[in-house]
Amino acid sequence: MKFELIFIIFVLISSSNSAWLNRRSQSSECDYVTSDLFKPLEPLPPTDSPVTRCYNLELVVKDLAPDGFTRPVWSINGQSPGPILQANYGDRILINVTNKFGDPASIHWHGIFQNGTNFYDGIVGVTQCEIPDKVTFLYNFTLKQYGTHWYHSHFLAQIVDGLRGPLIIYNPKDPYYGKYDYEYVMTLSDWYHTPTGILLPLFRADTYKGADPIPDSGLISGLGQYDCKAAPKNSTCNSNNKVATYVVKKGKKYRFRIINTSALVHYIFSIDNHPLTIIEVDSELVKPVTLNTIPINIAQRYSVILDANQPIDNYQIRAHISICTPIDNLTINYNSALNYNVTGILKYDGAKDKLPISKAYPLNTSEACRDVNPNSLKPYYEKQVPKNVISTIKALVNFNTLSTGKTVASINNSSFVPDTSYPTNQEIVEGVNPYKLPNYDNAYVYDCNSGDCNDAAVDIYILNNNTDSHPFHLHGHRFYVLYNGENQTGIKPPHKSDFNFKDPVIRDTVTVLPNSTTVIRYNANNPGVWFFHCHIQWHLNMGMAAQMIELPSIFKNTTIPNDVTALCVGDDLDNKSKGNKTK
Ligand code: C2O
Ligand code: CU
Repeated sequence: MKFELIFIIFVLISSSNSAWLNRRSQSSECDYVTSDLFKPLEPLPPTDSPVTRCYNLELVVKDLAPDGFTRPVWSINGQSPGPILQANYGDRILINVTNKFGDPASIHWHGIFQNGTNFYDGIVGVTQCEIPDKVTFLYNFTLKQYGTHWYHSHFLAQIVDGLRGPLIIYNPKDPYYGKYDYEYVMTLSDWYHTPTGILLPLFRADTYKGADPIPDSGLISGLGQYDCKAAPKNSTCNSNNKVATYVVKKGKKYRFRIINTSALVHYIFSIDNHPLTIIEVDSELVKPVTLNTIPINIAQRYSVILDANQPIDNYQIRAHISICTPIDNLTINYNSALNYNVTGILKYDGAKDKLPISKAYPLNTSEACRDVNPNSLKPYYEKQVPKNVISTIKALVNFNTLSTGKTVASINNSSFVPDTSYPTNQEIVEGVNPYKLPNYDNAYVYDCNSGDCNDAAVDIYILNNNTDSHPFHLHGHRFYVLYNGENQTGIKPPHKSDFNFKDPVIRDTVTVLPNSTTVIRYNANNPGVWFFHCHIQWHLNMGMAAQMIELPSIFKNTTIPNDVTALCVGDDLDNKSKGNKTK
């Protein structure tokens, strides 16, 4: 009791003086966690009331060989993917990030609403300035949500170099508890051998005429294989790297929380002989749907239940890569030795150590670059789609060639450029008129006046005017997918009569199909500046992003903690008025 009291006082003091907390919490009060993704996850025991959990994350560049090829990896507590962070619904989570990269950094918490804490969303130029090298920064927010989430860098392309990991929030009242015996976390990702410190400048050069850089391999939970014959002579490379192996006990049921943390690739996922029952989509529970193959785009998550009811043996886990953007011989690494069929092993306890000879489910290529049929995913809890639409945003997604010859990505023909030394949320709070931000901010503003705020909602029509498909993600929200462009030709705005207002899928990342329109709706109930972008990292670097400035008349009264604004001190003040257009 006494301790709790002291802790409450500690938290109270710390919110008024977080610099002090920064120093304090580097010490033993916070857990330096590491995790083995191949061990069943121990769900946190429920607590009588929400608690505060503190984690230390140390960012260090370290030589690792995820696919057998050794390269410097932007690791978290020495590993990539980073450790599994866990909390329960309602908990406050303190994440003490110590940057030892030798580069500036930031961490975003994908899918976390950050209601009241927009300034901890982790987006350089939107919600904060970068965390300089050798600096510790504390993210501090409350989790009024549950489900499978993840965290990743939102600065330059550090996510591609390894800065990504799972964040799991338990719902003590999860209706699916009892329907499975154990749970595992699994990440899927692509992997590049060239650090993005080299790749990104090549990719963004005026003279570059190719498409998105092609990865060298695919990883399941941080493990993959590479044919070292294709590696440069002086490299350290092992062609027989171990593959992801998950052990199950016959007769038990397993929940797998699968996260696609890739930069570029879409996956079609399956486990031989084992149909998978989807129960969660991007942290939102759904009615069970059983499928043999599951398409999963970048940043999306699925929880599936697997029944280990097959003969004791080894079964192949398959993650088939699709690249949803063009490849030509001007594209960086176009002749990559990438193996599009990434594999792992589902090993029954007691099975011999030998490679699986199991048979794959037929690969349904029509699932490439698509989502699980949205009509088959029904929210577990019925929810009323909000009707009070206060703003309808049309977002035309395109690529444009500038007079310099450089290709940029755009929304409504404007390419997003972050103002890295003056984040937008700070501008709004300091009185800048949100309606008068420069073009390159790609700001969309919606507000409501007391009378019309009830259940206020926003529609975004994502009009994709090119042949790529794009996994679009909105921060601070989950949205209703009212229309997904299936069977649509051309990007003409769809008819409302074709929208699903009854039971649309709810998620935070949706695939927008080539030359078609996707319509999403969400509640405008979270004052802040929310990033909206394609989650293909290369498209984001090209400017395929916008900022949703939500309810600025409320948000402008926010107090941004000093330790957040302090990150901007020392940044070039001249850039503040002009914007730091470094791209
Ligand atoms: Cu995974 Cu901007 O987010
Ligand atoms: Cu894209």
